[in-house]
Formats: sequence, C-alpha cells, structure tokens
Amino acid sequence: MTIGWFPGHMAKARREIAAVISKVDVVIELLDARLPRSSANPLLADLRGAKPCVQLLNKSDLADPAVTKAWVRHFERAAGTRALPIDARKSADLRPLPGLCRRLAPSRGGLGKPLRVLVVGIPNVGKSTLINTLAGRPLARVGDRPAITRGTQEIILKGGIHVSDTPGLLWPALTDQAGALRLAASGAIGENAFDPTDVAHFVIGFLASRYPTVLASRYKLPDVTAGVDAIVAEIARRRGCSVSGGGVDIERAAGIVLNELRAGTIGRISLEEPPEAAGDLARLDTGVSAPRR
Ligand code: G4P
Repeated sequence: MTIGWFPGHMAKARREIAAVISKVDVVIELLDARLPRSSANPLLADLRGAKPCVQLLNKSDLADPAVTKAWVRHFERAAGTRALPIDARKSADLRPLPGLCRRLAPSRGGLGKPLRVLVVGIPNVGKSTLINTLAGRPLARVGDRPAITRGTQEIILKGGIHVSDTPGLLWPALTDQAGALRLAASGAIGENAFDPTDVAHFVIGFLASRYPTVLASRYKLPDVTAGVDAIVAEIARRRGCSVSGGGVDIERAAGIVLNELRAGTIGRISLEEPPEAAGDLARLDTGVSAPRR
C-alpha cells in the first residue's frame, strides 16, 4: 500500500512558512531523533537558504544514543548549522538553546534588536511541547493526533529572543516510501493513511536486521532469523493474539509492536542513520538494552 498524506492546511502552512522565514534570524528545525532524515522536510532546505539553523533532534529519549551522536556530527558539517539532541519535555535539555541561537545571530538580541527565531517541524514532532517547555507553562495544545497544532504562537525569552512556531508541515507527496514507512512507524502520519500491518512488517524486518537482540529479548523470540511473517506470528502467539478457530490475529500483534515502538518500550531505537555512519553502526544493538517495564 502506498502512503500518501497531505491535508489541505499543509499547503497553506508552506506558504506561510515561506513568508515568515524571510523575516527571522534563526530557524529551529525540529526533527524526530529516531528518523532525522525522514522527518525533515526537503522543501525547508530551499525555503531557509543560508539562514542559520539549529537542528533539534527531539524525542532523543526514544532514539539510540550512538546513532543520535552520529546525526549531530552529520548535521554540524553544514555551515551555519548546529544540532542538539533533546527531550522537549525537559527544560534542562533546552538550556543550551538560547546560547546557540545567539551565537548563530550575534548581531541580534537585546533592546530594539529582537532575535527572531522560527520553529518548524512536521506534525507530532513536538513543536507544542517545545514551546510549552520554553515558556515554562502550557500554551499550545499538545496531542497524540498528527497535525493537532494550529496557528502561530510567539513567546519571548530572556535576552530579547522571540520564538514563534508554525503549523505542522509535511511534504506534499510522500514519494520516498521507505521514509513514509518510518514516519508511519513513528506515529507522525495520520492513522488512516497506512496499513498498520504493513508498517509493523517493515519495523520487524528492520529490527530483526539492525536490533536483533533487542527484538528477541522484548518478545522472547527463539529465532529472529525466521523471516518477518514467522516473527509476527510468533509475537501474536506469545501475546495471546488469537482468533476464533485457532489462528493468530496478525493485525492485533502489529498494533502491539507499533505501540511499543512508539512508546519506547521495545528499547531506544533509531530507524535511520546518517549515510556516512552506515559502516560504523553496523551492529546497532550492541550495548543498547531494552528498558524493563
Ligand atoms: P506537535 O506540536 O509538533 O504536533 O507535537 P506535540 O508537541 O503535540 O507532541 C506530540 C507528542 O509527542 C506528544 O505526546 C508529546 O508529549 C510527545 N513528545 C514531544 N516531545 C517529546 C520527547 O522529547 N520525548 C517523548 N518521548 N515524547 C515527546 P502525546 O502522547 O501525543 O501527548 P501527551 O499525552 O504527552 O500530552
């Protein structure tokens, strides 16, 4: 099944972002640390041009720390770009952010010269959470349905830093199906746009090849080389997903795997790594343990 998802208000958001981007000093691009490439909007690179940028790798609490470090190195190769892994729910993680913005736009800030910062990111990546944590109080609506954030808000931080956010922005056509599968796996894409069983198959195939120990230990699997269909069926059996007549309920098992991936219950999993790190990170699950829950 092809995943395609582009609600009407996204097109409007793109126009709005193009208009406001020219008026800001620094762009904060919020990415999902588990899939920094697939959660980035390729249009944004064009829209932002040479504008200084902080790439915030959010939900880093759910991502594989070694892979996140590799992504930080990857992003910081670009001029005028800094990268910072964060959990947007934690104010301690955001403490370095004002300083980073100031260093990227040293002539701005202070009286009469506000440092204008724009936060952009796809739906559900954590924009509202970031703004709330920066503000120190709840401002925006935070929710589990993609695209719940609407309208622009602005907060003013110490040192004349004006931070505004934008409505969610995904790309117009999800032509990269592997990227779309990662987005669906992460929970960024609306539930109606994909078949959870397909997405869970993709996730299990990925985990079996990149995080075999984590997968085996979470679901007590005797053999993770058995092939994706056999693994899903085994997970269904072990989790009591049965249908009347004696078969296994593959759809329910798929739902369990996706929920546990999104909640981080399976472990700290990164769904993609920077191209230059592929060799170094060949055995991703070395030293990564699934949390006990
Ligand atoms: P958006 O404005 O970009 O659409 O995203 P939003 O802030 O609404 O965040 C979407 C979901 O991601 C929320 O969870 C939020 O709590 C969660 N989230 C944001 N940042 C982080 C992070 O760094 N780590 C983790 N683990 N989760 C994060 P929710 O379950 O939909 O809502 P809630 O029940 O937490 O309020």
